[in-house]
Amino acid sequence: MAQIKIAPSVLASDFGRLADEIQAVDRAGCDWIHLDVMDGHFVPNLTFGPPVIQAVRGATDKVFDAHLMVSNPDRLLEVYAKAGADVITVHAEVCDHLDRTLAQIRDLGCKAGVSLNPHFSEECLRYVLDRIDLVLVMSVNPGFGGQSFIPTVVDKIARIHHMLDGRDVEIEVDGGITAETAPAVVAAGATVLVAGSAVFKGGTESAYRANMDAIRQAVGAL
Ligand code: DX5
Ligand code: ZN
Repeated sequence: MAQIKIAPSVLASDFGRLADEIQAVDRAGCDWIHLDVMDGHFVPNLTFGPPVIQAVRGATDKVFDAHLMVSNPDRLLEVYAKAGADVITVHAEVCDHLDRTLAQIRDLGCKAGVSLNPHFSEECLRYVLDRIDLVLVMSVNPGFGGQSFIPTVVDKIARIHHMLDGRDVEIEVDGGITAETAPAVVAAGATVLVAGSAVFKGGTESAYRANMDAIRQAVGAL
């Protein structure tokens, strides 16, 4: 089986102690740090932006995986890159010039990701296959943590896996991922699992380690 990465979503962490929480999941053995940027426009919720990402960049060497749930990602791509994002993922639904946006992300020295909401077809990926390093499949409607996994995305993941045809592109799944839902998405081809509530429940480093181990065990990666 391909190596599975776990990317805890800090949305479920204690924002009052964000740097400490990032260090705790780092020590507990996470692979990436998933940063959910919300603008109150594309999604109803608001979280944080480049200044906060920059403020916690020094807390860890792990990959910063920035998920931009924003309506106008183009105008701030450089700012996110300078703040320390390693992966920048934009939503296909809001990019009028997706090909150009992805090229810009790579020009900034970052990995380029495309995210698809649960209702959105994967067909647009066919035309940018050589521009992407990651596809982020939303398995809930974005905006909030702690929602239930939408099972119809499993077939979508399998179709994307087939479309990628062996390319070196990660398939990341985000929303409602737990030890119960992870096996189906990994079987369909997912390689990066974002998990907020399922990782941060318990509130301690040892709980985070146990929570991530439970997910890894469920997908046969432990
Ligand atoms: C949802 C975010 C997710 C969210 C996942 O808009 O993109 O990353 O934090 O949270 P859980 O794992 O609790 O569904
Ligand atoms: Zn996310």
